[in-house]
Amino acid sequence: MATILAIESSCDETSVAIIRNGKLLSNAVATQIAMHRKYGGVMPEIASRLHNENIVIVLNEALKEAKINLDDVDAIAVTRGPGLIGALHVGLQAAKTLSLIYNIPLIPVHHLAGHIYAGEFVARFKYPLLSLVVSGGNTELVYMEKHLDFKIIGETKDDAIGECFDKVARTLGLPYPGGLPIDQHAKLGKHTYKLPTPLHGKGYDFSYSGLKTSVINIVNQEKMKKHKININDMCRSFEDTAVDMVVEKTIKAAKDYNVKQIVLAGGVSANSYLRSEVIRKLKNSGIDLVLPPIWCTTDNAAMIAKIGEHLYKEKLFAKLDLGVDPNWKIDKYRVF
Ligand code: KG4
Repeated sequence: MATILAIESSCDETSVAIIRNGKLLSNAVATQIAMHRKYGGVMPEIASRLHNENIVIVLNEALKEAKINLDDVDAIAVTRGPGLIGALHVGLQAAKTLSLIYNIPLIPVHHLAGHIYAGEFVARFKYPLLSLVVSGGNTELVYMEKHLDFKIIGETKDDAIGECFDKVARTLGLPYPGGLPIDQHAKLGKHTYKLPTPLHGKGYDFSYSGLKTSVINIVNQEKMKKHKININDMCRSFEDTAVDMVVEKTIKAAKDYNVKQIVLAGGVSANSYLRSEVIRKLKNSGIDLVLPPIWCTTDNAAMIAKIGEHLYKEKLFAKLDLGVDPNWKIDKYRVF
């Protein structure tokens, strides 16, 4: 029986979770969203400082909720990258300190691999599978021929889809993070604005900066003409365009690679239109769909604990001179 304590601090959530034999005992999360909201995005310096302030509080909360002591923990799993460098350092230093004091293994975890394995809270993975990882910092199609084997077959050439949702929301005067407000306004609107679909029909890569710029240009032009933007219609038009791009490529790649399952992962996988479109397109396709539970779509340590258990079994441990890797690629995942 192994008890794993997991730490996540890659962006603006400080989180500690404890898992024992597949059973999640706790998942404490301190979110910094309210602090970053006034800047319309995450301020890296502030994020690091808040992780420092919150990490011990969140650790104690997770231990209390799990009703265990640090002596009961068999290994520490921690997000080592990708993410904000200063933010990652806080989690890794905490993890190394615990590993040293309690003489237990340190397990480095790739943040996006954590997002993918969040799906295991609700389903059993069937290989080969394809994961669409869509978050604030990443947009990737990851092919997994087998367990813990990751190959990037498509990725964004510029902005991430979540970043695009957040910037478009800011342009429209909606709060940060922009994904949920856009999702809600889109439900009330019609697709009336014509927006570009870069890289449409070309391979599995994505591009979001042109779409973002196009929305900004339309908003500015309308302002100059003293016209009012119809927020609901712009949200509908933008969401359709942004989501259709990932759905089209995901379905094509799933068929080309003959996968048994598609796993949605990351913060943007909470999007209601994305979920309904993938469900609709996969009807009668014979391909299974795994949708992560909404509570596990945004950053949290439960997903780090989930994959941490697998890595513990594989003994993928690191030495205490481990550093963070803000640009760690998921296919270089065993290299640390
Ligand atoms: O996975 P996550 O918590 O952070 C990263 O690891 O990047 O994802 C956060 C992103 C934000 O960009 C947020 O706007 C987006 O997920 N998001 C959504 C929705 N809920 C959150 N995007 C679209 N629709 C949503 N319902």
